[in-house]
Amino acid sequence: MPRTTTGTAITGHGVWHPPTVLSNEDLCVAFNEFVRRENAKHADAIAAGTREALRESSPEFIEKASGIKGRYVQDRTGLTDPERMCPNIPDRREDELSYQAEYAVNAARRALEVAGRTGEDVDLVVLGAANLQRMYPAIAIEVQNALGARGYGFDLSLGCSAATGATQLACQAVRLGQAQCALVVVPELTTGHMNWRDRDSHFIFGDAAVSLVVEPVARAKPGSWEILSTQMLSKWSNTIRNNKGYLDRCDPQTQFNDDKLFHQQGRRVFKDVVPLAEKFIKEHASAHDLQPTQVARYWLHQANGPMNALISKRLLGRDATREEAPIILDEFANTASAGSLIAFSRHNVDLPAGSYGMMASFGAGYSLGSLLLQRQ
Ligand code: COA
Repeated sequence: MPRTTTGTAITGHGVWHPPTVLSNEDLCVAFNEFVRRENAKHADAIAAGTREALRESSPEFIEKASGIKGRYVQDRTGLTDPERMCPNIPDRREDELSYQAEYAVNAARRALEVAGRTGEDVDLVVLGAANLQRMYPAIAIEVQNALGARGYGFDLSLGCSAATGATQLACQAVRLGQAQCALVVVPELTTGHMNWRDRDSHFIFGDAAVSLVVEPVARAKPGSWEILSTQMLSKWSNTIRNNKGYLDRCDPQTQFNDDKLFHQQGRRVFKDVVPLAEKFIKEHASAHDLQPTQVARYWLHQANGPMNALISKRLLGRDATREEAPIILDEFANTASAGSLIAFSRHNVDLPAGSYGMMASFGAGYSLGSLLLQRQ
């Protein structure tokens, strides 16, 4: 079979996260105090059986069910205040850099440095994120301006596959000659979209940003990762959803309801996504006549440790090692679409030239995205 390639490569990568750590222990102290106060407030109704008592959370459950030990957060003051249970993130003026643009720029500077490029070299910015902090102008254009980049930029929304989707669009633009130096930025400030009062999901997410530089492979330095091919799939599902949107204020009865925050049917997601991701990744490898075991590293979406362990076991026919399928969610929690790219950025430089690697995401939509890479 002729060797397939997009003729593009990932030439730079970089991760940035806010400095503040919130451990499971600290998170649960605040959550459990919130639970006790709520139950005390509604003690009569609970005693009368007209209201269900809230139940406490525990660090042991969180680590066992998800593999998460802690997370980086933009703000912990609001998250550890049982009366608030929401991050305190003061609004910024219109002449200040917006939060997501700041996240993106911080990661982009690191990726550009690895690529040996500057902001002026960039002629496309594709921003992918599960949450976008405003309607317009596109945050990518603000990032383009802040970096002194040329060309054009746009934002992409695709749940937890926004980052792999953005990388694929960057790759296509370079392949078509529309861009020579495309920057992918993924500013996942996720703590704003979570329901910190919900025991089932209060521990899931953390904040971080990641960035990649995509250029023609002919310009790539040794050690870059050639993008051999890309794959996308979507399949409608309501099991991970957030109804927040610009029409919210049009219905005053529902505008602050819990459905305007992240909510999911976690068990169902697990059952649906494991076989879907396994088939998707196997098909991608097999399109290159590769057995899954010939792929040296899987940079999987980082939502849940047991889910990743099961997917990689089904791919390899045995348990994967930490080297074969690195985990970053223990430190970062779920950073929405950034996870697979962070895993890549943190764990790729040790592999020898010629190695294959697969970046794969799976999330709300359902949306799946994968890139088959080969080290130069
Ligand atoms: N603290 C203590 N116990 C808790 C708890 C908490 N915070 N949350 C739930 N539990 C309890 C439940 O009450 C239940 O006990 P019960 O049966 O006695 O009532 C038990 O733990 C199991 O609950 P369940 O919700 O079924 O947990 P789980 O093992 O499925 O883990 C998730 C929950 C969310 C971690 C897991 O389903 C998951 O990660 N799924 C995939 C989600 C995903 O990838 N989403 C993508 C997001 S982009």
